[in-house]
Amino acid sequence: MNIMPENSKNIAIVGAGLVGAGWAMVFARAGQQVKVYDASETIRRGLPEHLGTSLEALHRHGLVTETPAAITARIQIVETLPQAVADADYIQESVFEQLELKKAISAEIDQAMAPQAVVGSSTSGFSGSSFMADLTRRTQFLVVHPVNPPQVIPVVEIVPTPWTKPQIVDEMRSFMQAVGQVPVVLNKEIDGFILNRLQGALLDEAWKLFEEGYASAADIDATVSEGLGLRWAFMGPFETIDLNAPLGIEDYAQRFSGMYQRLASLRHETAAWSKETIDRATAECRSALPVAALTARRQWRDERLMALIAHKKQQV
Ligand SMILES: NC(=O)c1ccc[n+]([C@@H]2O[C@H](COP(=O)([O-])OP(=O)(O)OC[C@H]3O[C@@H](n4cnc5c(N)ncnc54)[C@H](O)[C@@H]3O)[C@@H](O)[C@H]2O)c1
Repeated sequence: MNIMPENSKNIAIVGAGLVGAGWAMVFARAGQQVKVYDASETIRRGLPEHLGTSLEALHRHGLVTETPAAITARIQIVETLPQAVADADYIQESVFEQLELKKAISAEIDQAMAPQAVVGSSTSGFSGSSFMADLTRRTQFLVVHPVNPPQVIPVVEIVPTPWTKPQIVDEMRSFMQAVGQVPVVLNKEIDGFILNRLQGALLDEAWKLFEEGYASAADIDATVSEGLGLRWAFMGPFETIDLNAPLGIEDYAQRFSGMYQRLASLRHETAAWSKETIDRATAECRSALPVAALTARRQWRDERLMALIAHKKQQV
């Protein structure tokens, strides 16, 4: 396959829940022709409205120039998997996160895809080799892991299996850039990839601090939303410390490595995620925000993220 960025490609989306629908928008707004298949008729029926609402919000924030109607005109919802994948150059699989299902759906795609097509799986946590090993065309499969919602948050982790052709990894990086995403390429497989390993380390520490009563969930959250996280929208941990000592990262390491090594040596047992601690966190979170208000808060989050992405685009 040859995913040349400048060419319009045929894209298939298999599984069109939160993530698959987001992918459909990512590809269609970049001018690709997209066929979408989901096993659930309810999901297929609700998709046009979901796409319309999300694209309208992206349009309002200046993140797409075409009208939502012009973009959705490139998205076709189909009723079988072969209809979606038979003429696709690239197939993005986004079905439920269940290993047996990932194996089964990958095998179905393997049988129905064109000989040169490439298949990326959105899996959040399984290594590609745990479900791609037995495929006839396993050299054309890899993990292409987005962040939810992918039409708003651009980073994508590209993780080859030991069998993925190296050329496909390079092409996928170019292709993701061409459709407006920001690819991060892993040199080899690791559970959780990079994003969920970093997120998991922070969550582990947050649960532990909460469990041991050092602070409320709200105050731990504020440390990120009003502190660390403000920088993280613009730079990662390495650039953060490069800027936080007069002479850069080496200077920072000299000043603070002792402190961080001491903290690391005091590292606690992994957080237990015990029922008692979860109940306490739930009580605090629910008294601040009832379940019925979660959807509105998610919409608020997505709108704020879109405004931030629009701001970031103006800074380059
Ligand atoms: N939600 C997230 O935050 C997030 C982020 C990154 C990656 N992912 C990954 O993306 C994938 C999808 O997650 P999601 O959050 O969109 O889940 P979801 O439950 O919203 O959507 C999954 C969809 O897959 C469909 N499906 C199930 N079996 C199918 C089949 N055999 N054929 C076709 N469609 C089928 C379901 O009908 C459903 O619409 C998972 O692998 C998940 O780990 C999720």
